[in-house]
Amino acid sequence: MPQHVQGVIAPGRNEPVRVETIVIPDPGPGEAVVKIQACGVCHTDLHYKQGAINDEFPFLLGHEAAGIVESVGEGVTDVTPGDFVILNWRAVCGACRACERGRPWYCFDTHNAKQRMTLLDGTELSPALGIGAFAEKTLVAAGQCTKVDPAVAPEVAGLLGCGVMAGIGAAINTGNVGRGDTVAVIGCGGVGDAAIVGSRLAGAAKIIAVDIDDRKLETARTMGATHTVNSRSTDPVEAIRELTGGFGADVVIEAVGRPETYKQAFYARDLAGTVVLVGVPTPEMQLELPLLDVFGRGGALKSSWYGDCLPSRDFPMLVDLHQQGRIDLAAFVTETIGLGDVEKAFARMHEGDVLRSVVVL
Ligand SMILES: NC(=O)c1ccc[n+]([C@@H]2O[C@H](COP(=O)([O-])OP(=O)(O)OC[C@H]3O[C@@H](n4cnc5c(N)ncnc54)[C@H](O)[C@@H]3O)[C@@H](O)[C@H]2O)c1
Ligand SMILES: [Zn+2]
Ligand SMILES: [Zn+2]
Repeated sequence: MPQHVQGVIAPGRNEPVRVETIVIPDPGPGEAVVKIQACGVCHTDLHYKQGAINDEFPFLLGHEAAGIVESVGEGVTDVTPGDFVILNWRAVCGACRACERGRPWYCFDTHNAKQRMTLLDGTELSPALGIGAFAEKTLVAAGQCTKVDPAVAPEVAGLLGCGVMAGIGAAINTGNVGRGDTVAVIGCGGVGDAAIVGSRLAGAAKIIAVDIDDRKLETARTMGATHTVNSRSTDPVEAIRELTGGFGADVVIEAVGRPETYKQAFYARDLAGTVVLVGVPTPEMQLELPLLDVFGRGGALKSSWYGDCLPSRDFPMLVDLHQQGRIDLAAFVTETIGLGDVEKAFARMHEGDVLRSVVVL
């Protein structure tokens, strides 16, 4: 029997989000219905609402979630009802050209549920990142459910489903930050701060946090930044060079997603250094750089999707590190809210008041 539950819909470009009744089909082959316990508000949800990702409205927002598997469809053996899981947007297919080359973290054909969730009138919903978890329940591909230690709080675990994983992974997987490296992180929201946590975990010697908001810089320090730069008042490229013996950082992580901050990252890194773009740009943005500088400065210009993570490898490991007190993921939860508060949470995100608002059900 299809179920009726409450979920947060983005009805059209820039229209306020609202809570509506949605219809969840029973899980088909390879699918699972998950009872959501917590779901963080990520900047990418705001991008969806603004129409900056695509035009497939209405969206069922929310994609940074943890919950309990309620039911599974035919052929599902990896998870069973009652399992505590983090939802991932990288259920690797095992058969695409990336998977076949042994690089499943780039999987180009990740699995989502085949059936669609709908509104009561039958309108099909587009779940954000194939998840849609600002809802009491959601339908996903079983491979999107990653089992972790149920002792961790759901509002903490869920964060690994997107922003925190994207940030930590940008540092440890994509940027390959190592012991003794100097790192700069531009943009210290949830994702940038997670990159700071990842850099510290990897043994970076210096971690320079850059933001335009002093409150964000204060938090970045508590996350492990050794230095902070307010780029509204100080040229960040010069400041980062000064803090690194005049050279620039070994790895610069861009967690804003704008051409001007990308340029800062490009010029703030040492020769042969690495830029990691984790911030998501919008379609109209263009980047112009002297090709001679791209060549002459060498190194690597990389983009990081989901921190190049493998959920099955990385989620349980990071939950364990959190449970042991070696990283503090609870520090990312600024507030817990209800399903009806997502629009307000977007406003608070826009004002820079929060690292993560987390919907708790
Ligand atoms: N690549 C991925 O897999 C992935 C995953 C999740 C999120 N993201 C993206 O990462 C970005 C950050 O997400 P978030 O949830 O941390 O957002 P957020 O809004 O919480 O944080 C953004 C931060 O950037 C700062 N900022 C804004 N303009 C700036 C500028 N010009 N210079 C310096 N700092 C500036 C803000 O003050 C804020 O602290 C977004 O673009 C989001 O879509 C990417
Ligand atoms: Zn694949
Ligand atoms: Zn996200």
